[in-house]
Amino acid sequence: MQIGEILRWGCDYLRDRGVTEPRLNAEILLAHVLNVKRLSLYLNLKDRVSTREAELFQRFLFRRGKREPLQYIIGEVIFSRLSFRIRKGVFIPRPETEFLVREALQRIVGDTKVLDVGTGCGAIGLTLAWFSNAEVTLLDKSKPAVRLAEENRKNLGLSSRQVKLAGADFLSFVDRTKSRFGMIISNPPYIPVSEIERLPEEVKREPKGTLFGGPDGLRFIRSLISEGYRILSAGGHLIFEIGYGQKKAVTDLVTRGGFILEAIIKDLAGIDRVVVCRKN
Ligand SMILES: C[S@@+](CC[C@H](N)C(=O)[O-])C[C@H]1O[C@@H](n2cnc3c(N)ncnc32)[C@H](O)[C@@H]1O
Repeated sequence: MQIGEILRWGCDYLRDRGVTEPRLNAEILLAHVLNVKRLSLYLNLKDRVSTREAELFQRFLFRRGKREPLQYIIGEVIFSRLSFRIRKGVFIPRPETEFLVREALQRIVGDTKVLDVGTGCGAIGLTLAWFSNAEVTLLDKSKPAVRLAEENRKNLGLSSRQVKLAGADFLSFVDRTKSRFGMIISNPPYIPVSEIERLPEEVKREPKGTLFGGPDGLRFIRSLISEGYRILSAGGHLIFEIGYGQKKAVTDLVTRGGFILEAIIKDLAGIDRVVVCRKN
């Protein structure tokens, strides 16, 4: 089969199974199988693919057709222009979280000590370490996440002096640590549990502990604010992501928690997404 033909076939297969952007998905999967850039598919539409390549492509299409996230299949996600390994069992970084990183980078001075709470594959903290001189601690209670974050640290060539890993629950970390941080950053689990049925099939494939923040979505955010306060230096920043409709409740929580609210930043969809506050 030629590249053009197999792409058309793959696109139809995914469309029939309700995958959004079937053409783009088929292109990314085929480019991954052939180990080329997507553009080169278009430059070589008449080239033939081998039987082995066609079979691998079919296996990937099958998984995608069952709504496994594309990033788990190809094992990579691009975040803030950096490439991160990703796999099943770990949350997939989202583009809107790049707004969180941008706000943090504007406020890091020199080798500020940063704690990334709930680091997942390490996307936030490692990006901060890459683009600044911050000394970053990546914290997650999930062992698969901590292992993957460590792999990503090594892949990016960041030193273990600049980036530390901590496998622990946030609350026990706060109780144990003697460090004081100039910045705490987090993309916490913040979806209310009642929304589970409304989520796309792909999102339901991610670990529940990475998504849900109790009945109102704010369970983790409450401890982030109260416990984060204890380990932040005076004047230090707490920067975190929130979900749709959480602005008012979170504004009350941070101001009652002893923080000065500096900004709430919207994402590209116009949703209040990033809370920036400073310890009073
Ligand atoms: C929404 S994911 C964000 C992952 C990553 N920061 C990102 O943006 O791609 C939330 C992360 O918080 C971690 N987490 C949840 N509860 C935690 C807790 N009590 N202590 C430490 N980490 C926690 C989860 O394992 C998950 O990796």
